[in-house]
This record gives sequence, C-alpha cells and structure tokens, in this order.
Amino acid sequence: MKVSILATWEKRQDLWKSLSLYTTLLCTLIMASTKLHSLLLCAPLLMLASTSAYTPCPLLGPVFEPPSHLASDFSFQGALKSLESTLEKAGTTGHSHYGKWAASTNGFAVGIFDTSSSDQLFSYQFTSKQIKASRLGATVITSDSLFRIGSLSKLITAYLFLIEAGSGYWDCPVTDYVPELATAQHACSATSDPIGCIDWNDVTLGALASHMAGIPRDYSTPAELLDPLDGGEATAVEAGLPPVPSSDAPSCGLNFTDACSETQYLKGLSAEQPVFAPFTTPIYSNAGYELLAFALARIKGKSFPAMLEQSIFAKLGMRRSSYYNPNSTSNAIIPGSLKDNYWAAILGDETPDGGYFSTQSDLVKLGRSILASTLLKPALTRRWMKPVTFTSALNQGVGMPWEIWRVSNLTDHVFDLYTKAGDLPGYSSYLVLSPDYDVGFIVLVAGTDTTVVAEIISDVVANVIFPALETSARQQAQEKYAGKYVNTHCNSSMVLTTQAGVPGITVESWINNSTNMQLLLAGYEGGTSGYDIRLYPTGLKTSSQVAYRAIFESLDTVPDGGVFSPQCTTWETVDNRVYGNVGIDEVVFDLEGGKVTGVTPRAFRTTLKKTS
Ligand SMILES: *[C@@H]1O[C@H](CO)[C@@H](O)[C@H](O)[C@H]1NC(C)=O
Ligand SMILES: *[C@@H]1O[C@H](CO)[C@@H](O)[C@H](O)[C@H]1NC(C)=O
Ligand SMILES: *[C@@H]1O[C@H](CO)[C@@H](O)[C@H](O)[C@H]1NC(C)=O
Ligand SMILES: *[C@@H]1O[C@H](CO)[C@@H](O)[C@H](O)[C@H]1NC(C)=O
Ligand SMILES: *[C@@H]1O[C@H](CO)[C@@H](O)[C@H](O)[C@H]1NC(C)=O
Ligand SMILES: *[C@@H]1O[C@H](CO)[C@@H](O)[C@H](O)[C@H]1NC(C)=O
Repeated sequence: MKVSILATWEKRQDLWKSLSLYTTLLCTLIMASTKLHSLLLCAPLLMLASTSAYTPCPLLGPVFEPPSHLASDFSFQGALKSLESTLEKAGTTGHSHYGKWAASTNGFAVGIFDTSSSDQLFSYQFTSKQIKASRLGATVITSDSLFRIGSLSKLITAYLFLIEAGSGYWDCPVTDYVPELATAQHACSATSDPIGCIDWNDVTLGALASHMAGIPRDYSTPAELLDPLDGGEATAVEAGLPPVPSSDAPSCGLNFTDACSETQYLKGLSAEQPVFAPFTTPIYSNAGYELLAFALARIKGKSFPAMLEQSIFAKLGMRRSSYYNPNSTSNAIIPGSLKDNYWAAILGDETPDGGYFSTQSDLVKLGRSILASTLLKPALTRRWMKPVTFTSALNQGVGMPWEIWRVSNLTDHVFDLYTKAGDLPGYSSYLVLSPDYDVGFIVLVAGTDTTVVAEIISDVVANVIFPALETSARQQAQEKYAGKYVNTHCNSSMVLTTQAGVPGITVESWINNSTNMQLLLAGYEGGTSGYDIRLYPTGLKTSSQVAYRAIFESLDTVPDGGVFSPQCTTWETVDNRVYGNVGIDEVVFDLEGGKVTGVTPRAFRTTLKKTS
C-alpha cells in the first residue's frame, strides 16, 4: 500500500483519476486489518471520491525563477515568431481572435522587454493606410515614433511621486498640501451635508493615487456636453436637455485649448459633489491625479514638469518623452486631422493625469526601470506593485494606479499583471508588467478605434508570451534543479523534477537515512495518504545560494468548494512546522558558477550533493 501512496506525480495523477477504485482498495485492506480503523479512515476517503481532483496550491508569485536569456531561448523565440505573423495579419485585416476593427485607420507599435538586456526582446510596428497618407508628422510608425499616451501618464506621475517623496505621504490628508481644499471644506461641510460636500479632510494622498477618494472624475472635461467641440449647449438643448444656468458652466478647460489655472480648477472641483465617501469603493478619477501633482509640487517646492523631466525622463534617457506639447512633429504619429485627435490639445494641469507624449522605446525604458527597481528601493517597488482594492470583477484589482488583472487560464496557476491603460481621442496605450516573469510589454495605438485595438493587441501578446514564458521558466528550472541529490553515507536522497502543466519543482522522492520523509511528514500532520511536496522560489539569493520553500499539501484534504472550506490557503501554512527553530520547509540550494551543486533541507542539518 505504501508504495502506491508514495507514487510519483504521474502515478498520483492516475491514482486520482481512479480514485474510487483506490479508495475501495484501501478501505478493503484496512477493513481486513481492523474494523474500527475502517470507520475512521474510510469516511474521509470516501468523501474525497466525490470531490474534485487534487491540484497544487502554490504561493502567490513566481512558481519558477523568472526565465533568463530569453533572447536565445529556443521556445520563447519560437513563440515570438508566431506573434509577429499574428500581429501582421491582425494589423492588415483588422481581425483577431479577440475582435475586429477598421484596419485602414489603426496603426500600432508593440515592444516586449525584460530586465536582463537593454535591447527589446520584440519590437513590431504596423503602419495603417491612414498614417501612411498623413500630411502631419510621420508616415511610418517606428519604435521611436511619438504618441500621446493618455492616462498611462498617471502611472508615471505615481512613479515620480514615489521617487521624489516616497510612500510616507500616502496617509496624509490632501488638505495638508492643498489648503484651498481645507478652505472649501469649511465652506461646505461634509459632516452637515454629506451628499453635497466632499469630505476633503478624509481624502488622503494615497486615496487619490488609488482612485479611492470617491471624488468626481474631472472638473471641466472633454466629456462636458457644453464643450464647443461636442457641439456645445445648442446641440444639447436640441437633443432635449434644458439650458444650463451660465453660473454652472465651467469657466475654463472647454475645447481643451484653454486649460484651467490651478485656482480655477480647485474652485471648480471643490464646488462639485462627492461620488462616494472616501475609501468606499474604487471610482476612477482624473481629478485625483491632478491634485496629486499639485500636492507633490508643493511638498517639494518645485515645478512638477521640471521634476518629471529631471527625475524620470532625463534619468532614464527617455529623450523623446515630454510633459509639454512638442514643438516639432518630426516622428510624430498624428492620425487624421488635428480635429480628429488630441495631438495638439493643451491639457495644462490635467497633463499629469493624461497628457504626456512618449514612444515605444522610451516606455520600454520606463517599464524596465520599474521592474528592475532602478529608481526606487526594491522593497518600495514591491509594496507599490500590490493591490489597494478589488473591483466587482473577480479578476481585477486596483493599485496606485495599477489596473491589476488576475490571469487564471494562460498557465497552470493564477498570476497577476500590473498594467496601466491610457486613452485620448486618436490614441491609446497599454503598459503591462509581469514581476513574476520579469517581463513587460508596451502597446501604443493611433487611429480611430484605439481603445479596442490596444486591448485586443495586448490580449494577443499576452496569450502568446505568458504560456511561452511559463514553458521557458519550467524548462530552465528542469535543467538547473532536476536530478538526484544524495548523501551516500546514510541512504539519504532527494529527487527533484518538473512537469508540464504543474507549478513548482516537484519533490519526487525524499529519503532521509532510510526514512521516507513524505510518509513521516504526513504522519506529523495526521495525514494518511502522503504528501505532495513542491518547491517554490522565494527570491532570496546570493551568488552562491538560492532559497526555496517547500509547500506540503496533504493528499487527504481536498476542498469541497464552500466559501470557507479551504480551496487554496497554503500561504497560511508556510514555516509552520519547525525543528530546532528551523522550518522543515526551508530548502537552500548551493550554486557554483551558476550551476546547482547541492541542496540543504535546513531542518535536517545535512547537505545532499547533486549527482548528475
Ligand atoms: C476655446 O475656448 C477659448 C476660451 O473659452 C476661446 O477663446 C477659443 O476661441 C475656443 N476655441 C474654440 C476652437 O472653440
Ligand atoms: C519648445 O520650444 C520652447 C522654446 O524654445 C522650449 O522652451 C520648450 O521646452 C520646447 N518644448 C519641448 C516639448 O521641447
Ligand atoms: C482566457 O480567458 C479569457 C477571458 O475569458 C478568454 O478571452 C481567453 O480566450 C482565454 N484564453 C485561453 C488561452 O483559454
Ligand atoms: C535524517 O538523517 C540524519 C542523518 O543524515 C539524521 O541525523 C536524522 O535523524 C534524520 N532525520 C530523520 C527525521 O529521520
Ligand atoms: C540512521 O538511522 C539509524 C537507525 O535508524 C541510526 O542508527 C544511524 O545513526 C542514523 N545515521 C545517522 C548518520 O544519523
Ligand atoms: C533507502 O531507503 C529507502 C526507503 O526506506 C529504501 O526503500 C531503500 O531500500 C534504502 N536503500 C538502501 C540502499 O538501504
């Protein structure tokens, strides 16, 4: 019986497929020995037979070390070849697996990067017929073409805030730095009129950065129906809306050439009503980022555009990127006429939330800098790249201002993508970062259906690269770690491997001085069917050692699917069982010249040498 309990993964898979047979067999054997045990042991086992097959529950994060040498990785490069032809076909026809668009009027640029090289892993541009015929700016899209990036600007603004001021200000009320709002609060008190007055004292800088302030989306926006570009009041009245009292019309910002001053903006915004009380639910707000930029300028006593230029664009060599509208249209992608797009719109203080100009090459530098923590301390980057809140969608969270997508069907485990999208008429952008694979990509689109195209092209890229990255990471882990590790003196060994479709490094067998550890550990935890043991990287390493943690999952405890019945809670069990104050799940590998030479399950105070 023990032999089948301790079967390797493949055998176990088969085992689970024929679980009822297994259960029957086991129970028969147990019943044959003692009647009492049959009652105790067979009841849970029979329950198992009616639930879903065991699947490993990894910790959140990479299940293998991020793949390296992607530029020469055979399977990843194969995937990129297929990506190029898919994008070419999608660009030319306007058709893809994820939807359609007008091919003749939408051009795009795609750059994929990692942190190990300064070259892009992949760079592709599709120039639409509309851009080829453009009389303004460039007629071909390259990786150095200039686009407006819309709300992707917010991510750069948050990055600048962290670089300049750090995260210590997130809990400070905005009224500390923008006293005009404290004054507004006196005039209109949220305590006496919570529907009519914004509770500025409870709006923190962190709430602004994460769309949790519950404040209005904008003051005087292009979505204002009074905007002359939308036909203005006359058109609205014709459509059936009543005329607007002139005192309610925004005094600035209409038609987007007449940006509001800071004073006008603060006066206008603070006269609006709250959407929700602060910290109720995520409500996307451009105004929040305009206020965040005001606050940063006042905290530092410096001009916001100057800080942006010095601390990000100049530092990272983002030579084509700018806050202000460029003086020249050389290399500029301007789809259609200036009436069709926001190339020339002057956004004034709205710029930090949606107005920057940039290129594929420059945004690759930005994304790489964030992934590699070149301008922030690594711990601050890790803290920043976390959700602040969920949304009503199971797979979406919101950070500062990350739009976080939880991906569950591209690999065998859930992983999170930290992204920011942006739109302005004529332009859309998508920056996608994957800390787990240490890879990111940028998509820039110019044309008529840009929002849809940016989403679809991002989907196309993600669907090709993430399964390929998972395969490369697993193959590299197999090459580096798989094999037998032994201590010949006392019949101790550990056999490691990986399997397609299964996360982490599998501990196929583990014998310590002739004792089978899987059985022993199962015994400690009161289990009966043995343990599935897999190793996950912790990211802790030196040039000569790498630390992993083992996750022990009892094959006994299969979830039944209720709200509280454990589905995947291994994060709660790490470092639980200790021996002499060392977790029995601590596993450290020794490296020499990048090659693995041995493994130390630290609680056992013994090193097993790699044999082949
Ligand atoms: C935009 O607004 C400003 C001031 O409100 C006005 O002077 C200008 O003529 C307007 N431009 C257009 C194109 O409507
Ligand atoms: C445009 O030219 C002006 C005057 O030379 C300069 O001050 C400004 O920085 C330039 N703008 C950009 C975005 O380069
Ligand atoms: C993953 O799920 C998304 C959303 O449901 C779907 O569009 C996509 O095709 C799926 N991808 C795969 C590889 O199944
Ligand atoms: C593991 O093996 C070591 C000798 O290498 C021995 O000292 C130790 O007691 C063993 N531990 C268990 C739990 O069997
Ligand atoms: C291995 O276990 C045996 C008995 O099970 C014990 O006598 C021996 O000392 C152990 N070896 C080591 C190296 O601890
Ligand atoms: C080592 O231990 C395992 C597990 O107890 C046992 O099956 C195997 O026969 C032992 N090998 C030797 C050489 O003692």
